[in-house]
Amino acid sequence: MGLIGAGNIGGQLARLAVSRGYGVVISNSRGPETLAALVAELGGAHARAATVVEAAKAGDIVVVTIPLKHYRTVPVEPLAGKVVIDTMNYYPQRDGQIAELDNESTTTSELLQAHLPTSKVVKAFNHIYAAQLTTDGRPAGTKDRRALVIAGDDPEAKATVTRLLDEFGFEVVDAGPLKEGWRIQRDTPGYGPHRTAEQLRTDLAAAKRYADQ
Ligand SMILES: NC(=O)c1ccc[n+]([C@@H]2O[C@H](COP(=O)([O-])OP(=O)(O)OC[C@H]3O[C@@H](n4cnc5c(N)ncnc54)[C@H](OP(=O)(O)O)[C@@H]3O)[C@@H](O)[C@H]2O)c1
Repeated sequence: MGLIGAGNIGGQLARLAVSRGYGVVISNSRGPETLAALVAELGGAHARAATVVEAAKAGDIVVVTIPLKHYRTVPVEPLAGKVVIDTMNYYPQRDGQIAELDNESTTTSELLQAHLPTSKVVKAFNHIYAAQLTTDGRPAGTKDRRALVIAGDDPEAKATVTRLLDEFGFEVVDAGPLKEGWRIQRDTPGYGPHRTAEQLRTDLAAAKRYADQ
């Protein structure tokens, strides 16, 4: 797994991935030497730090988990044809105003997909607090197992991400294509709390566009 971004979410996903037997290549904006402590914690046999381009090239699955305002810096060519997981959310106070999100003519993951036209973008992990990624997972079949939403336009990529989430300990609720990803954006009912699959489906159906809130 390649990780572009190794902060709260990237670090936690790296821990989860290594705990499930994946090798990870992590990257950030400041360079691999700044990630030595995390690599040491993850264990050198399973993890290495690299540049963003190297992490993008190395991963079969690559996670983009950076502040949304920087999405245009994600390298395009090394991600061609790959499954790209997008965890990003839009916070204007951090990201600045993005007109096409403010007028709701598109969604965050559609922006990333437009930037990466030959990649298969799947929205995932955007509505769970980072710390809970390593505490809330449970084996399949556990009663009230926590569910997480995915959205995407490529069925095979979504199947890949569904298997990954299950390995990480979560049920999966498919919200549909990327354009439905707004149903789990900031300020929707499903954004944040522990939800079972059934509850999340109810939340997705009840979600309102910002203009209607
Ligand atoms: N925190 C949460 O609980 C949570 C939950 C769900 C979704 N999210 C979303 O997931 C994304 C990541 O959140 P986070 O909390 O993990 O953020 P964070 O802790 O601030 O970490 C951001 C990471 O991205 C790196 N980065 C920044 N700009 C970059 C660039 N241009 N290229 C490569 N790496 C870059 C940073 O590296 P440097 O430090 O070197 O700049 C850092 O490793 C955000 O969009 C956030 O809204 C967060």
